[in-house]
Amino acid sequence: RLLLGFLRPLGSRFPWAAGLALGVWGGTGPVGKAFPIAHTHVSPPAKFTCPKRSTHMAIQRTFSIIKPDATKRNLTGAINAKFEAAGLRIVAQKRIHLTKAQAGVFYEVHKERPFYDELCEFMASEPIVVQVLEGEDAIAKNSEVMGATNPAEADEGTIRKEFALSIGENSVHGSDAPETAAVEIAYFFAGLELVG
Ligand code: RTP
Ligand code: MG
Repeated sequence: RLLLGFLRPLGSRFPWAAGLALGVWGGTGPVGKAFPIAHTHVSPPAKFTCPKRSTHMAIQRTFSIIKPDATKRNLTGAINAKFEAAGLRIVAQKRIHLTKAQAGVFYEVHKERPFYDELCEFMASEPIVVQVLEGEDAIAKNSEVMGATNPAEADEGTIRKEFALSIGENSVHGSDAPETAAVEIAYFFAGLELVG
């Protein structure tokens, strides 16, 4: 207990030293000998390591759709320029034409809403561009770049303010949380299609 009382304040000032001591003790000392597997570890890929935790921002992926009203008016490039200007990287992208049934599965969460049928009809009316966007806090950043659902309420400079036609035909979709992003990405893309 005495030894711990001495080491704890040192550990909070020099966490790297505590890690080093633990590593040596665990690797060649009694813990390492008793549990040799314990010091086998895999380092994260270099691009995800960060020297200072306090300044760390999470790299996220979010799912995005350029909707039929926008692809029809040849706005794919203009919308992608907004994403890229905001620091979002397009790590996967393809143009597809959904059936109404496929759109229905994607928007199942809105099944009970009055606009559900109209929404599925619209999403299957023309090709769409499905995408995965990557960046720091990509979900929140993408929401900012898209603007409010209703273009009449969207901020200046947002995609929906500049391009959307109505609350329904509002040019873009973006995931609203990490869990929905994961499900939505998996609905449209295989892992090998995501190239970061
Ligand atoms: P999204 O899911 O497409 O990114 O849009 P959102 O979160 O801003 O809006 P949400 O409430 O999830 O609605 C999904 C999509 O349904 C259409 N909508 N139509 N006619 C209406 O009142 C109405 N309300 C929503 C929009 O296309 C909206 O993006
Ligand atoms: Mg939504």
